[in-house]
Amino acid sequence: MFQLDSHPSGRHFLQIPGPTNVPDRVLRAIDQPTIDHRGPEFARLTLEILDGIKEVFQSSGPVIIYPASGTGAWEAALVNTLSAGDRVLMFETGHFATLWRALAEKLGLVVDFVPGDWRSGVDAAVVEAKLVEDKARAIKAVLVVHNETSTGVTSRIPPIRQAIDRAGHPALLLVDTISSLGSIDYRHGEWGVDVTVGGSQKGLMLPPGLSFNAVSEKAIAASKHARLPRAYWRWDEMLTMNRQGYFPSTPATNLLYGLHEALAMLREEGLLAVFARHARHAEATRRAVRGWGLEILCRNADEHSNTLTAVMMPEGHDADAFRRAVLAQFDMSLGTGLGKLAGRVFRIGHLGFFNDLMLCGTLCGVEMGLAMQGIPHASRGVAEALACLRESAAPSGTTTQRRAA
Ligand SMILES: Cc1ncc(COP(=O)(O)O)c(C=O)c1O
Repeated sequence: MFQLDSHPSGRHFLQIPGPTNVPDRVLRAIDQPTIDHRGPEFARLTLEILDGIKEVFQSSGPVIIYPASGTGAWEAALVNTLSAGDRVLMFETGHFATLWRALAEKLGLVVDFVPGDWRSGVDAAVVEAKLVEDKARAIKAVLVVHNETSTGVTSRIPPIRQAIDRAGHPALLLVDTISSLGSIDYRHGEWGVDVTVGGSQKGLMLPPGLSFNAVSEKAIAASKHARLPRAYWRWDEMLTMNRQGYFPSTPATNLLYGLHEALAMLREEGLLAVFARHARHAEATRRAVRGWGLEILCRNADEHSNTLTAVMMPEGHDADAFRRAVLAQFDMSLGTGLGKLAGRVFRIGHLGFFNDLMLCGTLCGVEMGLAMQGIPHASRGVAEALACLRESAAPSGTTTQRRAA
């Protein structure tokens, strides 16, 4: 029989790139009595959340919240803005771009899928060339995964925006930030993104179950003419009800309590500090991987993800066997290789509710696992990461220490 929390003594290390560790503060917030979602208290909660979540997307426009996993918000972004037979431009950056493409095709969209090597991000020059070529303006949207969770590669959004503008093309820009939101700097408004797709279970430090569409005025205008069938995902009904603090159907009340608390935590730390923390832990992780003499999957230095690192297994060694051994021995979950990377990479998640010592524990588990499994490596990874953390430590300590002082 399944038993909840059957882990041995001590905390389980959940170091997959999402769902991430949920802070106790958020768990306590979720553990409150469910209230009437048509009552006045609930409206106050919703209005505060709808206001606060805009800061995380760095947007002044509305954010729609669905009780759904990220896939639901992918679908919502498409069905609200596009019509059957519309062409969309997408890039094969990895497993999630491939899944989003499949979803788009199931909806009846025609996808121009630019092939990729699963080791690099979207090339803005290709975006521009494709759009310049499209004299008939048949391409209605450019779809990009900001942070490919399967590869640890972050595509740069501003050059993509500039490429669309240089081509003078009216296509919408739709961006998936499921594994970057609240962790890597992302500016929906300033970067001119039309729909940003987000999820609760990564940088927002919540359990899975909520997902988001941050929308621009241009996207809302497009939704008035879009013809793909939609019912549950309709933005117009959501936006109308949200104005009063309510939802068209039953919202995920307790997850919203958690979101309210998570937004408070992000605000207390400060988004810039959150981004800097993620950048610092990512750099220390990369130093560790190089210290082990292993290869990072991401090819380009300016595309390294600050939320996860995908590590390539030496030839002849199975990444999943390694992960299984680490779980059995150290009670730590590492991310599996997805799609065509199955067995060839493992992924270290270093995002969300995370600090220096959690990173140290994670990297120690990996280094001990490599030794235990007889995987050829140098035992210098942890030492390199510690040096990196020491060199980059803020003189005034962590936010918690500063707050307590
Ligand atoms: C970048 C990205 N997009 C989309 C998804 C799909 O989201 P979900 O599994 O919550 O439906 C994920 C899931 O991990 C993801 O990482």
